[in-house]
Amino acid sequence: MKRKMRVAILTGGGDCPGLNAVIRAATKKIINDQGAEVIGFKDGYEGLINNRYRRLNYKDVSGILTLGGTILGTSNIANPYRYATKVGKRLEFRDVSKKALRNIKRLKVDCLICIGGDGTLHIASKLYRDAVPVVGVPKTIDNDIRGTDTTFGFDTAVYIATEGIDRIHTTAQSHHRIMIVEVMGRTAGWIALYSGLAGGGDIILIPEIPYDIEKVARVVKGRNKKGKKFSIIVIAEGAREKGRDVVVKRIIKESTIQARLGGVGFALEERLEEITGLATRTVVMGHLLRGGTPTPFDRILATQLGTKAAEFFEQKKFGCMVGIRGGKFVPVPLREVAKGPRVIPLNHTLIKAGRSINTCFGD
Ligand code: F6P
Repeated sequence: MKRKMRVAILTGGGDCPGLNAVIRAATKKIINDQGAEVIGFKDGYEGLINNRYRRLNYKDVSGILTLGGTILGTSNIANPYRYATKVGKRLEFRDVSKKALRNIKRLKVDCLICIGGDGTLHIASKLYRDAVPVVGVPKTIDNDIRGTDTTFGFDTAVYIATEGIDRIHTTAQSHHRIMIVEVMGRTAGWIALYSGLAGGGDIILIPEIPYDIEKVARVVKGRNKKGKKFSIIVIAEGAREKGRDVVVKRIIKESTIQARLGGVGFALEERLEEITGLATRTVVMGHLLRGGTPTPFDRILATQLGTKAAEFFEQKKFGCMVGIRGGKFVPVPLREVAKGPRVIPLNHTLIKAGRSINTCFGD
């Protein structure tokens, strides 16, 4: 009798709305079309390294379409090629990829679907190099994965950020204040740009354009003079003042990318109050942008990506992620992702549109 095929799924990196929708779609299609068995590694690569997994039957993935987070759990630290291990008080990084590869072999995994951002997909690309039949699915609220025009989770994050900005607007007006809304976006300011425009932000500060604090202060004061007694500033966590560094909130030694950003809004608040003398407050949206139920757009996108990943498995298109280019789902070699994040081009139509309606980008 022919052995049943087995597909493993894992979710890695920071979570994001729509992960469960991908797991659901991929699992259902694989079971329906291939009659294959599906398992899920728990907590991303941590589960792969330590052989922690669960079966995913049809009923396990029913009713999770609208659920935020990931039923499999995730880790944005575990990396089989650089696994942090405590030796006494010291941290050592070890290559435990052989252990991970052994688990894949022992479990007779015919395809590993890795749903994740640049870090997760970079590791997936190394696993492929080490002969694991891998299919990648790009995810991140930051929308900054190279090789794909968009990622699921982004639409939800923009929606939540915009709702936050809308709510800040009314209190800013009542108190005649400068309100700063800090959103996620480490190296790329996609969330700040989209939510800033959608929420009518007066100033949008993104990592791609280091800002001039004097310019920002001038714009705020200028609005005040014209009778607009409030201003809304939307700032990405990775934005920085010209000549200064990004604001690091914490260092996670175990992580491949160790610096976690956060707090640039407060730094800006201090500088602006000092220069303008105007009352300023800051709200950090942070992980709120990653939680909760995905928007209909993200549910649909995630469902399509999940079914496409299953199709890539059927067609043995390994070593690729499901990319979206010009509205089409295409295989994109995983090594492409490793070339770095997809940042906003300075001539992007939304930057141009913003400038033409007097949105200030801090330059
Ligand atoms: O990559 C997604 C992201 O949300 C970044 O925008 C942010 O810098 C980071 O994750 C935060 O990670 P953590 O969950 O470790 O705080």
